[in-house]
Amino acid sequence: MDINMLRRPRRNRKSAVIRAMVEETRVHTDNLIFPLFLVDGKKQQVEVNSMPGIYRWSADLMLKEIENCMNLGIRAFDIFPAVEDSLKDKRATKSYDKNFFYLKALREIKKQFPEACIMTDIAMDPYSSDGHDGYVEDGKILNDETLSILGQMALAQAETGIDILGPSDMMDGRVGYIREVLDESGFTDVSIMSYTAKYASAFYNPFRDALDSAPKFGDKKTYQMNPANRTEALVEAELDTAEGADFLMVKPALAYLDIISLLKNNSALPIAAYNVSGEYSMIKAAAKNGWLDGQRAMKECLLSIRRAGADVILTYFAKEFAQLSRQ
Ligand code: PBG
Repeated sequence: MDINMLRRPRRNRKSAVIRAMVEETRVHTDNLIFPLFLVDGKKQQVEVNSMPGIYRWSADLMLKEIENCMNLGIRAFDIFPAVEDSLKDKRATKSYDKNFFYLKALREIKKQFPEACIMTDIAMDPYSSDGHDGYVEDGKILNDETLSILGQMALAQAETGIDILGPSDMMDGRVGYIREVLDESGFTDVSIMSYTAKYASAFYNPFRDALDSAPKFGDKKTYQMNPANRTEALVEAELDTAEGADFLMVKPALAYLDIISLLKNNSALPIAAYNVSGEYSMIKAAAKNGWLDGQRAMKECLLSIRRAGADVILTYFAKEFAQLSRQ
């Protein structure tokens, strides 16, 4: 055989050493934020049905879980409270009640782990009897009426000492509003990671199971973005940047890699991506059935999110990834 080829890309794949040498993208535990679900009470560790390996923790056990994760090198956590239905109301008042369990837990977490980075979520849904991210009147989600509630929530969370607020509600103007409320009260150091391009997605269902936070009527399409839209993400990015966001987030991640890449190429801010509950559950379900290798699929997905341009990934795989990286 007389084949004359000058360029043979396979030469750069011929050994593990060379492959590692020319590897363009890496995922490090430092890039990951681990979302944790919090419940009231003591000694509670209840697995979320649709999310094998993910639990709702009471504060006492969550502190231990955070310690375990810190020992594995995970240093950033996003904490979501699951609230009993009877305590939800139209104005999500528990979200800014200083004595409510989740704010007490956040204070305790920051006290025990001042060096950890603690993030929280700003949106009404876990505390709202309507299950919507905004304030509802006559079946409508009212934007400007919602802002003052979000502001109170932001202040109450900031007062616990947390590091990053994540407005996930998709109301217009909320980043600027929250920034102003924080700054007026002296919380100039609290960061905002805005859910900038958050889509009305089918992939949030397991999360809503975990928090019992599904909307009581309708859907979230009047505030979350249409999955068909790409250019519109630039409008959201421009606004969030002008309003003072420190990070821009894309959510979900895997079906929206093009949006991650778009924002990365059009912004100097760090880009985060939320590898959401449904994306986690799909891999877990397939792996459980023996249909794919769960660990390889996990690594490939996290890698693809980084390759698309995400600096930071919020992922339920964080602990598993950190454990595997340690071996
Ligand atoms: C609250 C919120 C949601 C998620 C993060 N913050 C649910 C929603 O908007 O319906 C989803 C996270 C996930 O699916 O992992 N607004």
